[in-house]
Amino acid sequence: MEFDIINLRDFTTDRHRTVDDYPYGGGCGMVMKPEPVKRALDFAADKSLSSGAAKPVSIYLTPQGRLLKQKSVEELSRKEHILLFCGHYEDIDHRARKLFDLEISVGDYVLSGGEPAAAVLADALVRKIPGSLGNPESSEEDSFSGGETLFDCPHYTRPPEWENKKVPEVLLNGDHKKITAYRRARAIINTMKVRPDLLKMEELSEDDFKILKQYFLNYHESEDQS
Ligand SMILES: C[S@@+](CC[C@H](N)C(=O)[O-])C[C@H]1O[C@@H](n2cnc3c(N)ncnc32)[C@H](O)[C@@H]1O
Repeated sequence: MEFDIINLRDFTTDRHRTVDDYPYGGGCGMVMKPEPVKRALDFAADKSLSSGAAKPVSIYLTPQGRLLKQKSVEELSRKEHILLFCGHYEDIDHRARKLFDLEISVGDYVLSGGEPAAAVLADALVRKIPGSLGNPESSEEDSFSGGETLFDCPHYTRPPEWENKKVPEVLLNGDHKKITAYRRARAIINTMKVRPDLLKMEELSEDDFKILKQYFLNYHESEDQS
């Protein structure tokens, strides 16, 4: 992945390189002027096309955008070129927002500027690039991967007992079929406990229900505490 940083002030025309102005209608805070935004976007598109690359998918990072989900990360990771626009102050002029292909939010909270949001999205995209992770399979087993809205399963390492908490027996016995079933059951149960809004029961398969039934038949209180 290659990063290129564009400074909006390079697309201003006044001596002070001004990118913001007072809001029409009054109120506190400043608003980002539309002209430098448009010039910067045109510059990025021209630069890309003249180097033979695809026109960038332009994204305005804003708390008013569509909430970033792993599904969109996977779709965006297949794009050749992405432009992330970091806002500041109150917002960019509303008319300039229409210049972007997408508006994305990284969460229902407000940051001071778009840079941390751009870093979040860039990191999520980088780890989808083949070769970026030590083991490519690890990202396929992560929470929300493969189009599912499930958490990852819990993970354990040595020692097998720590502070009176034991690693679940099933993970120690080397029976891969049982381990896969156990992990699936825990992923479903953990999602159900913390984010019941994510879990779509109708998307669980018959095998999932069998696995869950088996899990509850073998359920030990001590396992849940670990
Ligand atoms: C102080 S915020 C502006 C918030 C705006 N007045 C509102 O209430 O929607 C300044 C900039 O930070 C970025 N930003 C803040 N929160 C964000 C979020 N949750 N996701 C993505 N970008 C965010 C945006 O680029 C935004 O233009």
